[in-house]
Amino acid sequence: MTGMNDKQVALVTGASSGIGADIARELAARGYQLVLVARREARLLQLAEELSQRHGTRCQVLACDLSDREALNGLMARADRWLDAEGLALTVLVNNAGTGVWANFSEQKREVSQRDIDINVTALTTLCHDFIDRAMAHGQPAHILNIASVAAFLPTPRFAVYSGTKAYVRRLSEILAYELKGSNVQVTCSCPGGTLTEFMEHAGQELKGNTGMMASAEVARQSVHAMLAGKTVFVPGLLNRLSLLGRFLPSKLQPGLVERSMLITVADK
Ligand SMILES: NC(=O)c1ccc[n+]([C@@H]2O[C@H](COP(=O)([O-])OP(=O)(O)OC[C@H]3O[C@@H](n4cnc5c(N)ncnc54)[C@H](OP(=O)(O)O)[C@@H]3O)[C@@H](O)[C@H]2O)c1
Repeated sequence: MTGMNDKQVALVTGASSGIGADIARELAARGYQLVLVARREARLLQLAEELSQRHGTRCQVLACDLSDREALNGLMARADRWLDAEGLALTVLVNNAGTGVWANFSEQKREVSQRDIDINVTALTTLCHDFIDRAMAHGQPAHILNIASVAAFLPTPRFAVYSGTKAYVRRLSEILAYELKGSNVQVTCSCPGGTLTEFMEHAGQELKGNTGMMASAEVARQSVHAMLAGKTVFVPGLLNRLSLLGRFLPSKLQPGLVERSMLITVADK
């Protein structure tokens, strides 16, 4: 396919399922070429095939465990090799991969907390550095889309590390957006609420009902739209935006309120 965006390339982390796969679909439909990153290579290859057939998208699949520091540090160089061979430059970075486990902190395994920090904080920060260096060198209009969560705004019990890492993502994005104002790099942080993906199963959450849950395709559509519209912080879905009014309550009341609202959709254990 040729068009306005056919020289634009997006690297999407966590593209093997959920919101990341749908962001890849959304960008492919807009004519972007793609670098797809996650651990499950077979899923990425399947998505690459789907996007190539549907939109003629050129895709590079890079299987990578983002919690492995060596693999993380080598990721952009692997992307560069393909980009150079194709005569393309990376113009969009989507830091979407993220993990969390729903349990009280005292019951969390240390290595799981560390993995969440490695993926949600370290990998995201490293890739922002790698991307900004390259975008500033090529000078074309460029976007970073970081996926945080509504847990970035409110203290979320049983998600202490997750909530803390997502608050970091939101804060980092706000400051990068400010510091990069007037440059060719624009930064957006999208903060979804409950979304129907594999995330809950991996997090050890059992769904009681679908109240307020969004479809990942809708979250992806709104998030990409917010990025292209140049928004800095964006919350998909009206219900999620309303839930953030809880921020204006006294901070001591917030964790209990958030826990009760989560237990509407997630089984207690
Ligand atoms: N679902 C929700 O309710 C919700 C709400 C708010 C925010 N979010 C955020 O949305 C983002 C996407 O989550 P999702 O809901 O779409 O969940 P998901 O379907 O579980 O997707 C997570 C993605 O991250 C990748 N990933 C996990 N560990 C990885 C690792 N070590 N190295 C590389 N990639 C890894 C997974 O791929 P592999 O397993 O193949 O590596 C997968 O592609 C996350 O940042 C999450 O925090 C989700």
